[in-house]
Amino acid sequence: MLDAEADRRAFQRRLDAERSAAERNRMGQFATPEPLAMEIARYAHRLRNGCREPVAFLDPAIGTGSFYSALRRVFRDQEIADACGVELDPRFVDAARNLWSQSGLRLIPGDFTQLAPDRSYNLILANPPYVRHHHIDRIPKNRLKAAVAERYGWTISGLAGLYAHFLLLADAWMSPGGLALWLIPSEFLDVNYGAILRFYLTEKIKLLHIHRFAPADVQFGDALVTSAIVAFEKAEPPADHRVKLSLGGSIADPIESEAIPLAELRRARKWSGRVGGKAGWTGPSPTLGDFFAIRRGLATGANAFFILDRREARQKGIPEEFLRPILPSSRHLPAAIIEADSDGYPAIETSLAIVDCDLPESVLQRDHPRFWAYLESGKTMGVHEGYLASRRTPWYAQERRDPAPFLCTYMGREKSGAGPFRFFWNRSRAIAANVYLMLYPRGPMENVLSARADLYPIVFDHLRSIGGDLLVREGRVYGGGLHKMEPGELARLPAVELGRVIEEAVATAVRGGGHPPGSAGASGRRSRSGPTGPA
Ligand SMILES: C[S@@+](CC[C@H](N)C(=O)[O-])C[C@H]1O[C@@H](n2cnc3c(N)ncnc32)[C@H](O)[C@@H]1O
Repeated sequence: MLDAEADRRAFQRRLDAERSAAERNRMGQFATPEPLAMEIARYAHRLRNGCREPVAFLDPAIGTGSFYSALRRVFRDQEIADACGVELDPRFVDAARNLWSQSGLRLIPGDFTQLAPDRSYNLILANPPYVRHHHIDRIPKNRLKAAVAERYGWTISGLAGLYAHFLLLADAWMSPGGLALWLIPSEFLDVNYGAILRFYLTEKIKLLHIHRFAPADVQFGDALVTSAIVAFEKAEPPADHRVKLSLGGSIADPIESEAIPLAELRRARKWSGRVGGKAGWTGPSPTLGDFFAIRRGLATGANAFFILDRREARQKGIPEEFLRPILPSSRHLPAAIIEADSDGYPAIETSLAIVDCDLPESVLQRDHPRFWAYLESGKTMGVHEGYLASRRTPWYAQERRDPAPFLCTYMGREKSGAGPFRFFWNRSRAIAANVYLMLYPRGPMENVLSARADLYPIVFDHLRSIGGDLLVREGRVYGGGLHKMEPGELARLPAVELGRVIEEAVATAVRGGGHPPGSAGASGRRSRSGPTGPA
């Protein structure tokens, strides 16, 4: 058996040498070092705790078979009833066949994410390909998203790496009570696009243990990622279930370890601080509120009176200077990016304007009689006596607001495959009513965006990558499945990735000798400036 492992390592070396590190990175081809594969197989043996049912083993990304090799050394022959490996790269399929078919390993060549289970398995040991999202083309990415949506009804972020899809889709291959140990990058503990995995791990299965290797202890010298082993059972967790979280050393003998109630983990937005949390290797995690002043859109007090179709407003003789563009409700927005027309109104069919003027009525009567007549018609309907209007001077003046470059809908219902909340990138001058939350860049985000317009799309991608489930969990649900999100709730969402974008931008500016311009405040109060976001 040792010979077989020596042969495997020889194959591995040969195949690795055929590709550059960059190519292997794109294919997610970083083999598990032999001692680590053994550590994981031994731990799986221990977790099975003398289980009598023989092993039906699956490695969904088998490579040359490090885990299968370790399995055969840790488990007795009689304990292994079946073993199967899936592999996409024909070179590895051949190698694995050469090495293991004699021993009874079945090989399925192909893309694991496109296969239906051939049977169910009670033990998965896996080091799935760590292919980053920007190496996954649009069509396969959409297919992967659809596969996750079909199984769970969840929207997986476009920023999720292939490993996340592997773990979620492997659920269909597991038998009830089956055990899985996944070696995956530890980033999922904190980043927004890891939310869907955290949700799966706390809601769908019985999470047993997450062991995180110390950041200095990089498992794959050439892949440059810190790794975690996630162990779980396909079972309903008991009400008082606790999850073991550990850090450093080995999974069987960690340096730090604690057992955290599952309920607490469900509530935590970021997990790395909890894994061996006392020392905390990371500072407090940034949240959206660190980067954006988030405010509800404008409350006019009488939308039907103050918000008009732009053409209608002109016909009524309301001068342009007393009109400001305002967004229609999100169902009238055809795309997530709101482009501007030549005068800054949204380039969409339903172009709306809000009446906004602080001149006294007497001046309007004298200088703009048709506009004054429109306001008078409001009085006959009692608009000026409404709760908000009656507290304003004059009653038709609106709160002063700048347009915000990013918006999130304030409420919505879950549709199949899509969460209830939607983000928009507003490149127009339009402000928004209170059916939206307005996100005004603040602090470092404001500095960086004002110096680097090219970062708007990246920031927008990150906002959109906030998993629907995370938004749902943070917001509130009302009768009939209506979800709402208050500004404070959105502000509390983790924004680790956005933090990295800012750090990188600042580092680049410093390296390049440039420096981000100073902050101008981000209260969202109107500065009479032009459109926000690069036009
Ligand atoms: C990180 S390596 C792990 C290999 C082996 N299990 C180990 O631990 O050493 C991931 C393997 O998955 C394969 N792979 C990549 N994409 C795949 C896919 N869509 N379906 C199945 N295998 C895939 C790669 O060729 C590579 O051999």
